[in-house]
Amino acid sequence: MPLLALDHARLRFGGIVALDDVSLEVAEGSIVGLIGPNGAGKTTAFNAITRLYRLDSGDILLDGRSLKRVRPSRVIRLGIARTFQNLELFPTLTVLENVLVGAHAATRLKRESEQRRVALETLADVGIVEHADRPAAGLPYGTLKRVELARALASRPRLLLLDEPAGGLNHEEVDDLVGLIHRLRKERELTVLLVEHHMRLVMQICEHVHVLDFGRTIAAGAPTDVQRDPAVIEAYLGGELAA
Ligand SMILES: Nc1ncnc2c1ncn2[C@@H]1O[C@H](COP(=O)(O)OP(=O)(O)OP(=O)(O)O)[C@@H](O)[C@H]1O
Ligand SMILES: [Mg+2]
Repeated sequence: MPLLALDHARLRFGGIVALDDVSLEVAEGSIVGLIGPNGAGKTTAFNAITRLYRLDSGDILLDGRSLKRVRPSRVIRLGIARTFQNLELFPTLTVLENVLVGAHAATRLKRESEQRRVALETLADVGIVEHADRPAAGLPYGTLKRVELARALASRPRLLLLDEPAGGLNHEEVDDLVGLIHRLRKERELTVLLVEHHMRLVMQICEHVHVLDFGRTIAAGAPTDVQRDPAVIEAYLGGELAA
């Protein structure tokens, strides 16, 4: 049984069909890429998985259990954590305080000292513990992306949803991110669903890739097969590869 499954998911905003009968599976322990052009429905899929948006029909299953009746605030306790395409940090809080938000959300960590320990450990794990006591506002963008990642990891998820983790990063930072995701997956036994336009990163770390266009699945499979798929090149990769 896959850890996560979208089962004929449909979601529309007025006249826009953001998810049009999308079915996809994420096997436990795998890294799956969710790609496609702007407006394809990738972030909408994340918002549906985390219950911020409600599907019009179809279902989302975690370990075979429907998330339909789960409140958004409970999703994190089921072991799902995410980062946001546009940073969603608290600028006036320190880096540590931002990450404590994630640690606090995890049920098993009741004591404040315990939450603090986990938050600091997580910051060390993603390589930014030296910034723990600095306010988030004013830190370089690449560091803020790491804070977001640390906040998600601090809830000790089984399933990590990353929405454009390489967005806005330079070459070196992207290379570091590839290594970091690989290591985190291994050490934390994570399952990762990753939205990304950065094709080199997708090809390097994803075992399986799912391609959306206008809310519809146009291809799914091994990265090298998807990369060669004429429908994917036509709808998306032509532009991405040329860029
Ligand atoms: N809250 C909303 N209200 C209305 N329309 C929305 C809402 N959220 C998303 N949409 C629309 O749904 C479609 C899918 O958007 P979504 O943000 O999921 O795309 P995306 O694949 O993440 O694109 P990008 O690569 O640009 O981030 C778009 O047409 C978008 O305008
Ligand atoms: Mg998006």
